Amino acid sequence: MNVLIVGGGGREHAIAWKLAQSPKVDQLYCVPGNGGIAELAQCAAIPAEDVQGIAAFVRENAVDFVVVGPELPLTLGLADVLSGLGVAVFGPSQAAAQLEGSKAFAKDLMSRYGIPTARYGVFADAAAARDFAGSMKGPWVVKADGLAAGKGVLICRSLEETHKAIEAILEEKVFGEAGSKLIVEEFLEGEELSVMAFCDGKTVAPMVAAQDHKRVFDQDQGPNTGGMGAYSPTPAAGPELMEEVRRRVLLPVARAMNEEGRTFKGVLYAGLMLTGQGPVVLEFNVRFGDPETQAVLPRMENDLMSVLESVVDSRLDEIEFAWSPNHCVSVVLASEGYPGAYRKGEVISGLDDLPEGVWAFHSGTSRRTPDGALVTDGGRVLALTGLGASLPGAVKKVYAAIQQVRFEGAHYRRDIAAKGFITSS
Ligand code: AMP
Ligand code: GLY
Repeated sequence: MNVLIVGGGGREHAIAWKLAQSPKVDQLYCVPGNGGIAELAQCAAIPAEDVQGIAAFVRENAVDFVVVGPELPLTLGLADVLSGLGVAVFGPSQAAAQLEGSKAFAKDLMSRYGIPTARYGVFADAAAARDFAGSMKGPWVVKADGLAAGKGVLICRSLEETHKAIEAILEEKVFGEAGSKLIVEEFLEGEELSVMAFCDGKTVAPMVAAQDHKRVFDQDQGPNTGGMGAYSPTPAAGPELMEEVRRRVLLPVARAMNEEGRTFKGVLYAGLMLTGQGPVVLEFNVRFGDPETQAVLPRMENDLMSVLESVVDSRLDEIEFAWSPNHCVSVVLASEGYPGAYRKGEVISGLDDLPEGVWAFHSGTSRRTPDGALVTDGGRVLALTGLGASLPGAVKKVYAAIQQVRFEGAHYRRDIAAKGFITSS
């Protein structure tokens, strides 16, 4: 089969790495890909959101199956366009991708179908949003409705800060049209957990859970990022909790989407807060998580291609999943300044002789012309990933390997998976 992966981050590199192991895959393509993916797939410089460009590439290269990594092309209807061409696509339709594309849509759906989520209001009017915030006790969470590359959530410690956040989103339009509406919601306390599930519209098959680390600095300090590292398994996600998440969150949302005429096929990702009242949904994503995928796919013992096909063909119930009991830890190396402004083009060294059980999934790298040197090309540069029989073993492995990887200004968190030790002690 000729398979095209859409995207160019660490998530797509992990997907490419796993698909490259499949006997079903003859030729892998990726758009736009990155310096690491280029070692596994033929890459073409087409942006992930260029729906027509991707459709043309699919026709020209006789692509049989497309796996869509990021959310933006899904919300732009890439899956619908490609399905219209008769190509198999892994990723939800535009109508189903609204679950991530509009937080107001997701919150209203959860509230109508009784799926646990924080108390909230949706507003297009700043005065009404301020009044609602004034009726709640803090801290306050203010979220832009649309896609804002993980930056659209503001946690405010005072009402004054909340008012500023409301004005920034609705009036100054700091997130552009993504902020034509916003959500004000109750602040939840607890441990965060990411649960991704394959969903074919009939069956929901949760993957092993992972925990992300959203803040840029150790001990959850500093601004939010796309994710600075992840690990799996997590002690918080025992079998009972996973069953509760399946029963109270994943199955109800899959059914709700069917009832709404927006059947969901793809990866349904629930970002959860584990509160005293059980798991509560912070957000849904309609795709694999980044960096969760880098910590989860190395534990998957199934042929990923067969799983993705079964989702497209609505026969996910035929798949028997097998997960390695090993522990996987993925640590992101970021460019100096990330998540703020950063430089690109720093030369990366030390990736050639990584020890066994350690992989470098590339997030933002490219090959420099004309000399072909591997250079930084994004805020998140690499996700160094280690697999080991124990959590301390995997942590040790990955942090030892990081010592040999170099680029100017590189920074990373030293406490990825540390919560895994605290909770289990
Ligand atoms: P989201 O993009 O909605 O997952 O939000 C990004 C991050 O903001 C989450 O991973 C949480 O750390 C935090 N967050 C979002 N909503 C809430 C909430 N209601 N209470 C506490 N923290 C939140
Ligand atoms: N790691 C968070 C996300 O993929 O949205």
